[in-house]
Amino acid sequence: MRPFGIRRKRRDSATTDNQHQIIQHVPDHIAIIMDGNGRWAKARGLPRIAGHHSGMLAMREVVRACDDLGVKYLTLYSFSTENWKRPRQEIEYLWRLVDEFFALDIEELVERNVRITILGDTTELPAPTQATVNRALQLTASNTGLRLQFALNYGSRREIVEAVQAISEMTVLGNIKPEEINEKTFSDALATKGIPDPDLLIRTSGDQRISNFLLWQIAYTELYFVEEMWPEFKRRHLEDAIRAYNARERRYGGLK
Ligand code: FPP
Repeated sequence: MRPFGIRRKRRDSATTDNQHQIIQHVPDHIAIIMDGNGRWAKARGLPRIAGHHSGMLAMREVVRACDDLGVKYLTLYSFSTENWKRPRQEIEYLWRLVDEFFALDIEELVERNVRITILGDTTELPAPTQATVNRALQLTASNTGLRLQFALNYGSRREIVEAVQAISEMTVLGNIKPEEINEKTFSDALATKGIPDPDLLIRTSGDQRISNFLLWQIAYTELYFVEEMWPEFKRRHLEDAIRAYNARERRYGGLK
């Protein structure tokens, strides 16, 4: 964690406003389950896809806010391996939204020195979306600022099974002995290799579950659930979450 007052860009570090001064430390890694787009739309008599579009706008603001605050890693649960169960039109719209976001926002993300990475299997996405995503990965590959990870066609159980397969292969090839396998070996076989575990996991919409997201990685993550639907989640809600995080005492199973 870094003192909140130290900002990397755009803002003068001496000009934190009163509300900002209340936040002492910004978590290095924030993960978000962006839930409630459908319910937000339904409550307004709108189609579910309108909720996803508003969700994309909320996501854009939260990415900007995290970058402004100096968050190092932001992982967004954007499409799970279970989301394929949804109606085809809704899924197709979600891919269009991904296309739209990367087309409209890539310039700003490059300018902000954001590096985009993906968790999940993008080879199952429609070809044009794969191309858009790959272009965003390439354009930001050498950036050194906020690491923005989209979990796209991601499922934690699948990730864990694939890690087990990879380690089994290594043992069969004689590259590692079973007794040499440890937590580091396992972490390094996950898609999040090299990324520190999330410090703070936020889920919107009032539901309090993890839904197959980063199961291994959140062993000691602080969980924060809010009632707001994802399209309602603004910069101030993010700051509330960070303040709540600051009030927590992380002991990792030890004593204070
Ligand atoms: C969960 O709400 C949300 C999703 C499954 C999609 C989230 C996607 C975005 C916010 C935009 C994605 C854009 C990019 C570029 C990655 P829900 O539909 O499950 O809501 P409900 O529980 O109220 O039905």
